[in-house]
Amino acid sequence: MARRPAVARTFSALDRATEAFRRARAKVALVPTMGALHAGHLSLVRLAARRADRVVVSVFVNPTQFAPHEDFNTYPRAFANDLAALAREGVDLVWAPPVTAMYPHGFATRVVPEGPAVAGLEDAFRPHFFGGVATVVTKLFVQCRPDIAVFGEKDYQQLKVVTRLAKDLDLRVRIVAAPTVREKDGLAMSSRNAYLSPQERAIAPVLHRTLNDCARRIAAGAAIGEALADGRRAINAAGFVLDYLEARHAETLAPVDRGAGEPLRLLVAARLGNTRLIDNVKA
Ligand code: PAJ
Repeated sequence: MARRPAVARTFSALDRATEAFRRARAKVALVPTMGALHAGHLSLVRLAARRADRVVVSVFVNPTQFAPHEDFNTYPRAFANDLAALAREGVDLVWAPPVTAMYPHGFATRVVPEGPAVAGLEDAFRPHFFGGVATVVTKLFVQCRPDIAVFGEKDYQQLKVVTRLAKDLDLRVRIVAAPTVREKDGLAMSSRNAYLSPQERAIAPVLHRTLNDCARRIAAGAAIGEALADGRRAINAAGFVLDYLEARHAETLAPVDRGAGEPLRLLVAARLGNTRLIDNVKA
């Protein structure tokens, strides 16, 4: 059984641990998570361990990125399992602050990201979301002072928002992107996949398959608009309620004018029953 990582739940415990890392001149990586860890999260931890000397994983279900009607209260929580998985990965420190430490009484400051955060993708359906993410990620960076931080391409718009945020606020942390880890049938791993009924789980891989079909057609010279229109039809026909299927500039997430040969990313969000799934691929 691997050694359990140290768990910090207070600022003084966190500071003691991170000061020891700095005294050892160790390069520190942070992997921010909301727990309920799966193989996707653990791939970020492994990438962090390859790129740094010490790995800190934060486990914090962040209330400010959930709207009142969303799943904050029912979001899966599995701290004992998470800790066992992080022990197997040889993680050095788990930062698991209580909500009252992150957002004490009287908390009244919010980081409001623009640029990729107002691209008309996730932000159009979850208007509170990136403000909550940017606020908590800024706080995590200030609290842990990592040299690098690893984020998954699974949440592609979030990755671009955080990259912009770290640059714009001079947070001196290098953002490292990790590729999406998928189930065998292509479904992107997500803590929310646990909500799917067996019937919904059988339909779910249509999202990734459709993204791949669109990417292939666009690469073969098809008009983007036509490929996406067919993709939207396929997703709706499978039984999803589609929020968006879009082709965007891979860096800025701005709408694309393919004539200019820009790097493309295809992004999708769709609901199956009560579960909202997102995915994206390079095109
Ligand atoms: P969470 O959904 O727990 O995801 C934590 C990190 O794991 C994110 O960087 C996410 O992109 C990555 N991830 C999730 N599923 C993945 C998969 N299948 N393959 C690769 N990476 C994957 O994203 C959040 O938490 C929060 O918004 C957070 C950044 C922690 C701020 O609260």
